Amino acid sequence: MARAFADVAVPREVVDAVLDAGLRAPSAGFSQGWAFVVLEGREQTAPFWELTAPITSAGGGRWGRRKQAPVLILPLANRQAYVDRYAEPDKAALGLDPVAAWQAPYWLVDTSFATMTMLLAATNAGLGALFFALGRDDRELLAHLGVPGGYQAIGAIALGWPGDGDVRSGSLARGRRPRRETVHYGRWAGA
Ligand SMILES: Cc1cc2nc3c(=O)[nH]c(=O)nc-3n(C[C@H](O)[C@H](O)[C@H](O)COP(=O)(O)O)c2cc1C
Repeated sequence: MARAFADVAVPREVVDAVLDAGLRAPSAGFSQGWAFVVLEGREQTAPFWELTAPITSAGGGRWGRRKQAPVLILPLANRQAYVDRYAEPDKAALGLDPVAAWQAPYWLVDTSFATMTMLLAATNAGLGALFFALGRDDRELLAHLGVPGGYQAIGAIALGWPGDGDVRSGSLARGRRPRRETVHYGRWAGA
């Protein structure tokens, strides 16, 4: 993740190449129940930051450089697309309706996969990218952007050319959990 961005625009074709990587993500039943709102330039990004405050104002000036990101992508998940897809003849026998029967909410899984492939594509393109949580009621933001009902934002991606003074997450001090704790060959092994 990158948290400082240069005040330089990202050409639309570069943004679209990142989005294309998201659109190639796998999806359950090939439902592709996702959508992405792309905000480019100050005029479009400033209202986003206003409508996501106070969470994006928290931590003093920590969000300052992130707000310079020239591009924001809002990945949205559509639960109904999966309910409808899994009611189709080739899927109905799975019994994944009503929604309570879903062990893993595929709409969040798929939108997250798409988000991750975009983060990787952005990094490959030499961009910096940050996925961050909106952390508060996003209804006002979604209404401002004209997002139809039924779409849930899973967070947001800030995108731009890397800037000076990048800040690593304070959480990294926790250290990466070792494989012996997290991977279990054959069966779950105690510590
Ligand atoms: C679901 C999720 C929410 C996150 N929210 C934030 C956030 O609100 N602010 C932030 O700076 N980073 C956020 N991150 C980034 C993590 O802090 C970061 O991925 C982690 O510290 C590991 O650092 P790295 O991705 O640079 O290796 C989030 C990551 C995920 C997956």
